Amino acid sequence: MAPSSRLPLVMGNWKMHRGGPDGADLARAVLAALGGRAPAGVEVVLLPPPTAIAPVADAIRGTGVRLGGQSCHAAEKGAFTGETAAPFLAALGCGFVLCGHSERRRLSGEDDAAVAARVRAALAAGLRPVLCVGETLEERDAGATEAVISRQVAAGTAGLDAAAAARLEVAYEPVWAIGTGRTATPAQASEGHGTAREALSRGLGAAAASAVRVLYGGSVNPGNAEALLSAPGVDGALVGGASLEAAGFAAIVKAAAAVRAVPATGG
Ligand code: 13P
Repeated sequence: MAPSSRLPLVMGNWKMHRGGPDGADLARAVLAALGGRAPAGVEVVLLPPPTAIAPVADAIRGTGVRLGGQSCHAAEKGAFTGETAAPFLAALGCGFVLCGHSERRRLSGEDDAAVAARVRAALAAGLRPVLCVGETLEERDAGATEAVISRQVAAGTAGLDAAAAARLEVAYEPVWAIGTGRTATPAQASEGHGTAREALSRGLGAAAASAVRVLYGGSVNPGNAEALLSAPGVDGALVGGASLEAAGFAAIVKAAAAVRAVPATGG
């Protein structure tokens, strides 16, 4: 594969934490740890709970740090109590939204079709969807890792044209590595990313697929970030728990920028 020219992307998924005024506090702390703005050579995105998006937007304005949502509904409005529509996120300054995070798939019953509908809703609202995929431990043990990743990527991207593909991100998050402290090895991450990219190529064509960033997620921390971000095919990180600690998250961001400052050797 040709050396990657994809700009590394590091996202902090705060999950259901820091949803009040403490969200803006964390955003300010992240900024301070980054020296006041997003470093060159890496894209940095914070994903606060919906209730903290507006104050975090105020805190990061003009700093190059970007904002996204953790989920969106498929409809643009309607009687869906408790849900968040993609246009609402866009109106608050979000540029990204996660679609089909494994916690949504598992806890909120989002199946492949529901996730695909959310990807489309995100695109329609002008957001960049981050399609989350990954196998459970049972699926890995059963030898189904490749099949699961391929199915989730194919379903989530079915029918997207080249323009849509150019605005897509994918996150490979092995479910068994999320919040467990058990990280995929760089080799396992590369393997999963390769599978995801092959599925993207089959669905979107090789040219469109080659522009899609594939992030690794699952217990990324400052200690393992460099090794994971250096793994061939890994274009960035989707960070959960470690994104709640400003200095650690900033260290991961800096690791992503540093890894790509040297010529990439992997695809
Ligand atoms: P952890 O980094 O806490 O394992 O969470 C990963 C994740 O789910 C990010 O979306």
